[in-house]
Amino acid sequence: MNLKKTDKQIYDIIQKEAKRQAETLMMIPSENMAPEEIREAVGSILINKYSEGQPYRRYYQGMENVNILESLVEKRALKAFHADPNAWDVNVQAYSGSPANAAVYLALLEPGDTIMSMFLPDGGHISHGWIFKERKLSLASKIYNISFYHVDPKTKIFDYEEIAKQAKKVKPKLIISGGTAYPRDIRHDKLGKIAKSIGAYYLADISHEAGLVATEVLQSPFKYADAVMCTTHKTLRGPRGALIFIRKEHIDALDKAVFPGLQGGPHNHTIAGIGVALKHATTSKFKAYAKQVVKNAQVLAAELKKAGYDVVSGGTDKHLILLDLRKQGLSGNIPAMALEKAGIICNYNTVPYDTGSPMYPSGLRLGTPGITTRNMKEKQMKQIAHWIDEVIKETSQYVLPEKGKKEFVEIVTKNLSKNKKLIDISTQIKKLCRKFPIPD
Ligand SMILES: Cc1ncc(COP(=O)(O)O)c(C=O)c1O
Repeated sequence: MNLKKTDKQIYDIIQKEAKRQAETLMMIPSENMAPEEIREAVGSILINKYSEGQPYRRYYQGMENVNILESLVEKRALKAFHADPNAWDVNVQAYSGSPANAAVYLALLEPGDTIMSMFLPDGGHISHGWIFKERKLSLASKIYNISFYHVDPKTKIFDYEEIAKQAKKVKPKLIISGGTAYPRDIRHDKLGKIAKSIGAYYLADISHEAGLVATEVLQSPFKYADAVMCTTHKTLRGPRGALIFIRKEHIDALDKAVFPGLQGGPHNHTIAGIGVALKHATTSKFKAYAKQVVKNAQVLAAELKKAGYDVVSGGTDKHLILLDLRKQGLSGNIPAMALEKAGIICNYNTVPYDTGSPMYPSGLRLGTPGITTRNMKEKQMKQIAHWIDEVIKETSQYVLPEKGKKEFVEIVTKNLSKNKKLIDISTQIKKLCRKFPIPD
């Protein structure tokens, strides 16, 4: 209420964003809607406190409440992920997923060591190292030697024997799994075994799957990994932040890597929000949610397959689906923009062995965490799949302009904004959204 009076400009932007979120389908798989009590914790007076160091080992005074908070959240994190507290420890201070990964590297590796990570266009993440046209684009690739592993060209699923062969050859000090667009379950048992066989560490980045792992809907990596990290704002449905779990013998190195290695004061307000999310994650209600997220994604994938789409890897085991639109003669970006006009918010994405460019990749990435938070189920997935198909068919009339991005955006947005079919679908989607409001 105060913000409305004192800073109308920012207030209005927030109101407009709330309206946008309420009236559209959030189908970017890395997004979700944090409940009100989490937003309350994140917006609390905890934002005012500096607390460099670890619980009860601080460089500031006035720590009595924040020490209790951080210890509590650490305990909740181990419990929520069923991690044995005799074998595992956790750091809850990383600002987000990318610095969390950097902290693990800093704790376990020396500059120049080799990391084996999933190739970005096959669904990996940029914080695992990315080199494009010989340019080292992310910090990990500037500091470490990255060897990418790939999905099988036919199945688009990992061939663990190939990964084992590569590991024997390149002898990495760290193997990382996890990515942004790999729709299949990751076999942590196999990757852990490969890493062990060559004396490498195994880091499981479960940023996307955190909520599905905590609820045991997907295989847990804890038995097989040396470190497990995740963001807290995707399937875990918390605030934007990260958790880093590590085997006890490495916790001092990890804590030092986070602070003073990479960061200053922890964001105590975020840590509080993560604590609330972790409490939610242990409830039967959240488990039912996680199961429904996967069910919804599988129905959506099956419907889109029925409609003639090439669903990468043939389906999904989790919350995300990747469509390869080359069969339709399309790249992903015009459909993504058309879907946005219709009220379906997803993103264009590379697909494995993509023949397009980073700006014009061939894929479309869709996810169900956000729409499942609104309590949508199989029936709504069928309807949404039908709308996605209609929108994509409608967009095939628009040809990619040969010029740059500016022309592309101008031509396409003007045409798409006037398209009657898209306007009609967006009206129907607003109606559906009213029927399934965002829970408080
Ligand atoms: C697998 C994976 N790791 C790390 C990250 C990085 O997280 P953040 O965006 O919080 O830095 C992401 C974000 O999408 C991710 O998907």
